[in-house]
Amino acid sequence: MPLVSMRQLLDEAAKGAYGVGAFNVNNMEQIQAIMEAARETKSPAIVQASRGARSYSQDRFLYHLMLAATELYPEIPTVLHLDHGNSVETCKSAIAMGFTSVMMDGSLMPDGKTPSTFEYNVKATREVVETAHSKGITVEGEIGCLGGIEDGHGAGLDGLSHLTDPDQAVEFVGQTGVDALAIAIGTSHGAYKFTSKPTGETLKMDRLLEIHRRLPNTHLVMHGSSSVPKDLQDIINQYGGKLKPTWGVPIEEIQLGIKNGVRKINVDTDNRLAITGAIRKVFAEKPEEFDPRSYLKPARDAMKKVVALRMTQFGQAGHAGDYAPISLEEMAKRYQRHLTA
Ligand code: G3H
Ligand code: 13P
Ligand code: ZN
Repeated sequence: MPLVSMRQLLDEAAKGAYGVGAFNVNNMEQIQAIMEAARETKSPAIVQASRGARSYSQDRFLYHLMLAATELYPEIPTVLHLDHGNSVETCKSAIAMGFTSVMMDGSLMPDGKTPSTFEYNVKATREVVETAHSKGITVEGEIGCLGGIEDGHGAGLDGLSHLTDPDQAVEFVGQTGVDALAIAIGTSHGAYKFTSKPTGETLKMDRLLEIHRRLPNTHLVMHGSSSVPKDLQDIINQYGGKLKPTWGVPIEEIQLGIKNGVRKINVDTDNRLAITGAIRKVFAEKPEEFDPRSYLKPARDAMKKVVALRMTQFGQAGHAGDYAPISLEEMAKRYQRHLTA
């Protein structure tokens, strides 16, 4: 089946009361890991590429790898999503290339670091929604800012300084018409989220509940949702790595989110850890090896294992065959009817 809109996947997830993981990719092995995990667990798949990923891969390569994925895994409803589009132009270029979903992250200015004004965010996001919906493409917006910078990404804020205000969230969705909304409830990007094991109070789940109560029909998105498992940290450190002690988002908190309107869960760091640990292990144990396949294959397998586990934990496993794809043309007509209704 062709690449499908994210809106369809998330609508189905809402009907079935489950969440869908969105996994970041930069190369062929990561795409293969996700598609293999999706096949094994019979899951719909959201594959996402950041601006950095598009530039690293020369995004046309990435796009064609995704077309290969749809040919090789025809039974898997698959979305190609732009993660953290920093400007209207970035989103439009992704749409022109064939992405079936885009995130306009207008919570930050185009530098991807400076928190923006509400007015800027609404204006930029609305413009993306107009272009995207006319082509049946899904739009994710963000209100409130996530934390995290240690990997050079993000606003350099701590996870709690710009939490989503529920009143603003309601106004933002009303004024932009986004399909999905990323909210800030205390998570941050990267490996260093929390310096001690999170308690039930660490994430601001009461905000999430309030936002879901007031926007029951908007699909909520949790960014910064890697769990940063200790076993993956340990493998890296055992084979010469130097990760500092750190904690991520507990799976139970994500599952609580899924019970309360979270339909898309962004995970990148856990896969980075799995890949790096597997490669370090081969380098340490077989220093005589120099065929890249000798370490890229275990790396791909390690990522597949993490993705398959998350697909099961988020509840999307078993749902790949539930529905037939809706074409982007039909999605565009639906948006049009909704607008004119
Ligand atoms: O949101 C951040 C994702 O982990 C992507 O990171 O911008 O380094 O590709 P990146
Ligand atoms: P992690 O760094 O927690 O994996 O978050 C990824 C993310 O939110 C991508 O947009
Ligand atoms: Zn993110």
